[in-house]
Amino acid sequence: MEKQSVILGIESSCDDTSVAIIKGRKILSNFIANQEIHSEYGGVVPELASRAHQQNIIPVIQKGLSNAGMSLDEIDAIAYTRGPGLLGSLLVGSSFAKGLSMGLGKPLIEVNHMKAHILAHFIDDNSSTPSFPFLCLTVSGGHTQIVLVKSALEMEILGGTIDDAAGEAFDKAAKMMEIPYPGGPLVDKYAQSGNPRAFPFKISSMKDYNFSFSGLKTGILYFLRDNVAKNPHFVKENLHDICASIQYTIVETLMRKVEKASKDLNITEFAIAGGVSANSELRKRFLAKEKEGWKSHIPNFDYCTDNGAMIAMAGHFLYEANEFGQLKSTPNPRMKF
Ligand code: KG4
Ligand code: ZN
Repeated sequence: MEKQSVILGIESSCDDTSVAIIKGRKILSNFIANQEIHSEYGGVVPELASRAHQQNIIPVIQKGLSNAGMSLDEIDAIAYTRGPGLLGSLLVGSSFAKGLSMGLGKPLIEVNHMKAHILAHFIDDNSSTPSFPFLCLTVSGGHTQIVLVKSALEMEILGGTIDDAAGEAFDKAAKMMEIPYPGGPLVDKYAQSGNPRAFPFKISSMKDYNFSFSGLKTGILYFLRDNVAKNPHFVKENLHDICASIQYTIVETLMRKVEKASKDLNITEFAIAGGVSANSELRKRFLAKEKEGWKSHIPNFDYCTDNGAMIAMAGHFLYEANEFGQLKSTPNPRMKF
């Protein structure tokens, strides 16, 4: 039987301060403090994010512990996000994790944020768990990748975006329509009652398993500029159709590559991970592939956008493999797989 290790996970890579406690694969608590401050600036302001992490980290740790009904001496190890992410944000979580590790005399575990998004699928909850090997589309605000997951600790990136990430495409499109940051969830909401074919945008076709969303961004910019010049109320009057059309284009771009990877590698075990995996259209399209024999694994909503639970889950696997971190290691904003 797997050892029921208790890991405290700290996530602070972008604008969410989160702490979770996992016992074995069961989440005992997962507390997230979102930073509202960025919405008025239309995107994450790194300086403000690190300050907010600094203010949040102690109350969030306390909340994580009290929600789990645990004290620090019951923790076996401290896992934290080493990267990728914003340096100032990562510094808060990593410094705090190191302080805890030294103070408690408990081991430190360095987690890669993008791998953790994928490993969130192994949390023991009501969602299905993928079998190895599987393909994972990781789509967040900073990354868009197709990953071949051979085991919990062995992953290979098959392709990624050469410019903007899928989440960034959602957020930038939203910003052009004056939808507050982060725009992705609101575009999703407005798209529910819109026509996805109302305004056709070009779907980029990159080589291999790579993506590009910068052309779509420019396409949307010109489309809005031209239509607003003719009718100043164009966005307001067509918001739902515009959102549905943009969402359709982003999701279709992702699905085409996913289908290609599945065909080329002859793998039908598929998962989605990262903030954009909360998108209702992407989830629907993935689940629809089950009719074609796929096993589609969709994460629980709680574990799509940034959270400490995924860091704790990744920490569990690293702990079991005796892969511990070092006090001298520094946060890595461009941490590779
Ligand atoms: O993984 P995440 O929380 O942070 C990063 O690691 O980047 O992802 C955040 C991204 C944002 O771009 C946000 O707009 C997007 O995920 N997102 C969505 C939805 N929910 C979150 N995009 C589209 N539809 C959604 N429902
Ligand atoms: Zn993330």
